[in-house]
Amino acid sequence: MKYTHLLMLLTGAGLFLSCQSKSIYSKEVVTSPDEKLCVTVETIKGQLFYSAAKDDWTIVEKSKLGFTFKNMPQLGNQVEIISSHRQSFNETWEQPWGEKRLIENRYDELQVILKEKHGLKRSFKLIVRVFNDGFGFRYEIPEQQNIDTIIIMDELTEFGMNDVHYAWWIPAYKDRFYESLYRYTPINKMDTVCTPLTIETKDGHFLTIHEANLTDYAAMNIRCNDSTTLTCNLTPWSNGEKVRGKTPFTTPWRVVIAGNTPGDLAASDILLNLNEPCKLNDISWIRPCKYIGIWWAMHQGKYTWSQGPRHGSTTANVKRYIDFAAENNIGAVLVEGWNKGWDGDWTANGNLFSFTEPYPDFNLEEVTAYASNKNVSLIGHHETAGAITNYERQMEEAYRLYDSLGINIVKTGYVSTLLDGKEYHKSQYGVRHYRKVVETAARYHIMVDIHEPVMPTGLQRTFPNLMTQEGVRGQEWDAWSTDGGNPPEHTTIIPFTRGLAGPIDFTPGTFNFNNPVLPGTRVQTTLAKQLALYVVLYSPLQMASDLPENYRNNQAFDFIKVVPVDWEETRIIDAKIGDYVITVRKDRHSDDWYLGAITDENSRDFMIKLDFLMNDRTYHAQIYKDSNEANWKSNPTAFRYEEMEVNSDNNLQIKLAAGGGQAIRFRLLK
Ligand code: NOJ
Repeated sequence: MKYTHLLMLLTGAGLFLSCQSKSIYSKEVVTSPDEKLCVTVETIKGQLFYSAAKDDWTIVEKSKLGFTFKNMPQLGNQVEIISSHRQSFNETWEQPWGEKRLIENRYDELQVILKEKHGLKRSFKLIVRVFNDGFGFRYEIPEQQNIDTIIIMDELTEFGMNDVHYAWWIPAYKDRFYESLYRYTPINKMDTVCTPLTIETKDGHFLTIHEANLTDYAAMNIRCNDSTTLTCNLTPWSNGEKVRGKTPFTTPWRVVIAGNTPGDLAASDILLNLNEPCKLNDISWIRPCKYIGIWWAMHQGKYTWSQGPRHGSTTANVKRYIDFAAENNIGAVLVEGWNKGWDGDWTANGNLFSFTEPYPDFNLEEVTAYASNKNVSLIGHHETAGAITNYERQMEEAYRLYDSLGINIVKTGYVSTLLDGKEYHKSQYGVRHYRKVVETAARYHIMVDIHEPVMPTGLQRTFPNLMTQEGVRGQEWDAWSTDGGNPPEHTTIIPFTRGLAGPIDFTPGTFNFNNPVLPGTRVQTTLAKQLALYVVLYSPLQMASDLPENYRNNQAFDFIKVVPVDWEETRIIDAKIGDYVITVRKDRHSDDWYLGAITDENSRDFMIKLDFLMNDRTYHAQIYKDSNEANWKSNPTAFRYEEMEVNSDNNLQIKLAAGGGQAIRFRLLK
């Protein structure tokens, strides 16, 4: 049932508020703008619950809400609904960069004011926003007499499933930095897991549980308590406390995205919409681009980060990379191992990385002047070794220096088990640090690429200088992982798990499949699949990871030179998580479309409609495909280039080799 629903006009925020101040409601329902998805908030014997359904699909069964605290009694188990407020909202806003330019933010909101019947008589608010493709809710605890300081020991939020569905998951505490291969098991066989948690229901629906706008709070994990009840598990501080705060206090949004296909999950904009609009006044300096780097050669043992005979980031070598970038439409060069500290202690407490002092064989001023002459940006690297106190001490000065030299991108890194030797990366301690980095960088006009991050939650809407993050088992694992590298199915899973959280710095683009250091470990794809990843995996800073010498004179590199990093529109044509993905995207700055198709270890054959192209127009298709004899294991580099003219009435056959892929540029003929 819908109480109030006012449809607003496109563009510009529309708002309608109705207030029911009558006392003692025990149940409130709010439906989505299309009236298909509804969320119910109710109290039963004083316990607060919510549930969600769409048509005849029970997305979330009746599930508990509330908190336990260190310094006061539990909240949520002896409450009543005092009043409720509703509003409808509809606006379309433009992203500065992204997978699509325009975002529709259309929802119906319910605010439920709750108060304890006895004892401390504390009050709080539950805010629910229901979109056509999912919902989010958050708690707000206002300033009041009986709550001041808050120490949350547990957030009791549950996500009750109506069956033992299957899910793709990675463990929350066993592996580091979200760098795991996804497992696919029944939910009651899961470990405590990270979000986004993507679930396939027994009746064929898909849903993802995650959070939006993670601000000064601990990142959420999920634990399966009994066979079907999923419970929020907050990442603790080292003393076991979860979140420290003070009223007025607001939690991040708990988000459930619901769809009929994996593509529906990827098309959702709920995470962005549940973050605040851009807080930066001037964003003219924020520019997505592709980059190469003094990087893969270190992971493959050819160069070193530290000084010595094989030092990678010398003045001459970085200039060589800058030349290559300038010649090939690559906007930036990542420079790792330029600063003092790589040969020192790598423990979080003992580390003394300097973020302002270069090694003697790297002339910072000379290199930055050279880069800016060639219109190439430098990406300065700040590996902190997790010693964030050391980093925060130098951050302002380092960013000021970069700004003065025209370096406007920084890649940060936190390789250590614990930050400052004691706290989890995704604890409230870490969340505060990562936010400080983004906000400080913005003041100095610096875009950031965070490695070993806390999982993204849509914050790039508010701070669009937060370009991309790792937080995934990226392609670097194919250099040194003793298990052989990322199996071919990995990249067919991450667009619908980690990728739902935000841009991924996966670092595709390997053209040489021999690994001198660990011959049994290598990139487990064909060459054509490496190209397809530029369309399938989204990052506004997208790396061409291989060495210039491996790109020179290779026709496949032509695709990397032209593929955009900023899109007008994105559609997943077909996907089966763990098997294959076919994605098309339209360039934001031209009429061209791009296609990326990838498969797991099985070869596949598709016939796709080109009906995404403009009607009655002809396109020149430039096709980079696996050749007949290609196979990721035995013949990864076998690829073919073809051209043809096509239009929106055509069907196109797409043949993918085992572990293979295909990348196509459709150029509109004028
Ligand atoms: C791990 C990061 O993911 C990688 O990109 C970087 O090169 C190394 N740490 C060294 O900082």
